[in-house]
Amino acid sequence: MKLANNRYHPPGRYPEGWYLVEIARNLPNGGLVEKQWMGQQVVAWRDSAGEVCVSEAYCPHLGSHLGPKAGGCVRNGRLVCPFHGFEYDVTGQCVATPNAPPPKTARLNVYEARELNGLIFAWWSSVGRDPQWELPQWPDEGWKRLEYAALRFPGHPQETAENSVDISHLQYVHGYASVKQLGEVYVAGAYLRNDFQFRRKINLAGVTVRTDVTAKTHVWGLGYSFVEIHERVSGLFLRQWIMSTTVDETENELVIALQAKGREPGQKWLATLLLNGLPPGWLTRFFISRVKHDVRQDISIWANKRYQPLPILSRSDGEIMTYRKYCEQFYPVSEVVGEPLRRVVSNRIRPVKRA
Ligand code: FES
Ligand SMILES: [Fe+2]
Repeated sequence: MKLANNRYHPPGRYPEGWYLVEIARNLPNGGLVEKQWMGQQVVAWRDSAGEVCVSEAYCPHLGSHLGPKAGGCVRNGRLVCPFHGFEYDVTGQCVATPNAPPPKTARLNVYEARELNGLIFAWWSSVGRDPQWELPQWPDEGWKRLEYAALRFPGHPQETAENSVDISHLQYVHGYASVKQLGEVYVAGAYLRNDFQFRRKINLAGVTVRTDVTAKTHVWGLGYSFVEIHERVSGLFLRQWIMSTTVDETENELVIALQAKGREPGQKWLATLLLNGLPPGWLTRFFISRVKHDVRQDISIWANKRYQPLPILSRSDGEIMTYRKYCEQFYPVSEVVGEPLRRVVSNRIRPVKRA
């Protein structure tokens, strides 16, 4: 998709925070993945004890890429460089080479990582700050298999997360009805809470179904939104993560992950029927397809809009400026538009255990 001319970004392209690296089940013990993440080439891998390491992708020896495409691999619980065989443990330390003792200073820059609810996140700070907050682990009991979908487009995580407080677009872009904000937007440090309700019609296997939804949105930074969804007609409980990550100077990746709750006290017969009368995962994938449909509607706007630092708002706009104020903390160094931030990779060493 082509970018609009005269595009302005929010204050920085790489805001500080926790950003998704990989869905945990895609990284089994001994697994290795590579990706472009927050403007960096990174690798994520898991040793034989299940510990995860997220690090820069280039070997400090002579600079080989460590990812699987270049021939990098995990062997005996160590990341092995394809060029001269240096081996790294999950702390990023080089612990062996084929022909000589490992140089003590051969160490990969490692990102702080967390594995929560089947999702692997790493901490990004353009100025090398340690994590400024932690993400929550939500109780998993009773929730069915997590399904997910990823979309890439020209965009920015501040713009995608702004959706959660931009109440008026829900009706205009997505066609929701009776959209109502519940209470005020609540902000405490890196946490933002916003609740709303709406109605909409959806086509479920050829049948038009009316839904009545309450959504409680919990935001921790620009890369992590968690939404508790209750559909009151059917009695369904869903939960959804929306994880936005800057890829590079232009692209953004949005991963939507969704789960349905198998059973809830007082659950209506319709929810029980939908959850148990359909093939496993069908309902979750159906809702993911609906969310993807909505996100594609947003993408047409995001990919072509420009950032308005001082928007002219109407009374129906919700609390956009509360959100903008909240966002300032994620830019510890203000960036002159058009100039990239100084990027310093955190060198803290702390592998994570499988949650
Ligand atoms: S470049 Fe990695 S071992 Fe030489
Ligand atoms: Fe939207």
